[in-house]
Amino acid sequence: MPSDLQEKGHVVLVGAGPGDPELLTLRALRYIQSGDVIVHDRLVSDEILSLVPDGVEKIFVGKAPGHHILKQDEINQLLVELAQTHKLIIRLKGGDPFVFGRGSEEAEHLIKAGISYDVVPGITAAAGCGAAARIPLTHRGLARSVRFITGHHKEGQGLDIEWASLSDPEMTVVIYMGLKNLDNIIEKMIEAGRDGNTPAAIVENGATDKQRIAYTTLKDLPQTCHDANFKPPSLLIVGQVIEVAKVLNQ
Ligand SMILES: C[S@@+](CC[C@H](N)C(=O)[O-])C[C@H]1O[C@@H](n2cnc3c(N)ncnc32)[C@H](O)[C@@H]1O
Repeated sequence: MPSDLQEKGHVVLVGAGPGDPELLTLRALRYIQSGDVIVHDRLVSDEILSLVPDGVEKIFVGKAPGHHILKQDEINQLLVELAQTHKLIIRLKGGDPFVFGRGSEEAEHLIKAGISYDVVPGITAAAGCGAAARIPLTHRGLARSVRFITGHHKEGQGLDIEWASLSDPEMTVVIYMGLKNLDNIIEKMIEAGRDGNTPAAIVENGATDKQRIAYTTLKDLPQTCHDANFKPPSLLIVGQVIEVAKVLNQ
């Protein structure tokens, strides 16, 4: 390691999974218990934060939909600044740092600043919610591929998705951050050829003790979310696998 890297702190981007501390990896737990400072998002649960030893500074950087306490470039900068004053900086993120978590942007910034870093994988919402809600993401004969898409887009820009590529009836589509633009997403998917009667489910706070699930169809997803007042964090899963989930949940 070059000598200038040794003088600065080391940043670890740690995936905290969907929220239940039992779904942390052992490595994530070790870092949570040994960091000199913890920088965390809203999706990191209180139960996980309670594993941070007393006296260790915890810095909340927000990221509720539409209410970022710090902007992404400010978070990037904060990590660089903390590396001047602390040895081990833990950047704790919900799910997996490299799945819709902007962890790779933080890593790019750290590299530019000459700061060493590591990444600890976490259980991403799709895997966590799928297993916890007994929704298989693939199933022989029904779903041979899975797509993860984000329903979030930059202010003033439309969703930049190749909608026709989601029309394969044997593909499970998992939508992260989908509630805000749901009408638009569903309209585009159906217009592009996905059958509106495809089974669908919403999982709110998946893999935690607050988990809520509703079954519906692609075309009725917006109405179901509205009627049952689903709030973030919620994951939308579309595909024939929802029929299997109904059997597995009996
Ligand atoms: C900014 S993304 C972060 C994703 C995270 N990096 C991951 O790998 O799961 C936030 C979105 O992930 C989904 N999400 C995260 N945790 C969830 C949970 N416990 N239950 C349902 N959805 C969740 C929701 O769609 C939420 O809006």
